[in-house]
Amino acid sequence: MPERILVTGGTGQLGSVVVDQLVAAGERVRALSRKRRSGRGAQWAVGDLRTGRGINTALAGCDVVLHCAADYRREADAIRTLVEAARWTGNPPHLVYVSIVGVDRVPLGYYRAKLAAEDLIVNSGLPHTIQRATQFHSLVRAVFAAAGRLPVVPVPRWRFQPVDVRDLAGRLAELAKAEPVGRAPDFGGPEVLPAADLAKAVLAAAGRRKRVLPVSLPGSLYRAYADGGNLAPEHADGVLTFARYLAERPDPGALRYH
Ligand SMILES: NC(=O)c1ccc[n+]([C@@H]2O[C@H](COP(=O)([O-])OP(=O)(O)OC[C@H]3O[C@@H](n4cnc5c(N)ncnc54)[C@H](OP(=O)(O)O)[C@@H]3O)[C@@H](O)[C@H]2O)c1
Repeated sequence: MPERILVTGGTGQLGSVVVDQLVAAGERVRALSRKRRSGRGAQWAVGDLRTGRGINTALAGCDVVLHCAADYRREADAIRTLVEAARWTGNPPHLVYVSIVGVDRVPLGYYRAKLAAEDLIVNSGLPHTIQRATQFHSLVRAVFAAAGRLPVVPVPRWRFQPVDVRDLAGRLAELAKAEPVGRAPDFGGPEVLPAADLAKAVLAAAGRRKRVLPVSLPGSLYRAYADGGNLAPEHADGVLTFARYLAERPDPGALRYH
């Protein structure tokens, strides 16, 4: 059993739920933020993974790091900082990295950065686990809520397998208590659904009546998604559906990410 677990990104969409679940399970949790914080039953550490400020101190005495922070422009730098700090402790913690299903199949800049971050971790020599997950419910909703501002909503002929952060947090809590496994089996949401159906559900939940128009587009990005590069249908491990997520968060017209 880990003595203490550090959750980076303890204020984020995923990280905040991870902190709550671990604390509720009686684990000793330290949560990292760039700002001074308190609450959630965790001990808080201030640190910045971009500059390294405060990270050695944050890691001290932790035997697991659940890396739930996201630095969308400097993903690999954050990993370099973590790896260096982990080595500095002299007793390297188990590093659990949250990645995305399809980082090796979908040609997006952020995905390339996530893949490079995975490589850094694999080659670091540290005990590690890499958990790839499909798109969060919140992201899928935000994308289609934004498109819903148009008079007709064009939607690519793609499919998504949205996952609830509460389900993923449960998996991460299990990984934190287990031995490092390297690359863990992917973690996906319970249903693979056409983008057009998801867009209609988002619009209906927001009380908007719009026409959804499925479209095909040229290019390698379109093709990668159309080929299901973002999906893990054989790992439909989440149980909380997109319909339930929308029902629980009736936030008409919202573009908020949570
Ligand atoms: N969104 C999706 O659909 C999806 C799908 C699969 C996997 N993932 C992965 O899941 C992870 C968590 O995503 P999320 O959406 O929960 O992230 P998020 O809500 O954007 O949270 C990111 C957190 O990272 C912290 N952070 C940002 N820059 C930092 C820095 N330089 N140093 C320290 N902390 C920093 C911020 O905390 P403070 O502001 O308090 O410092 C923030 O709360 C990411 O690795 C993401 O790639 C996301």
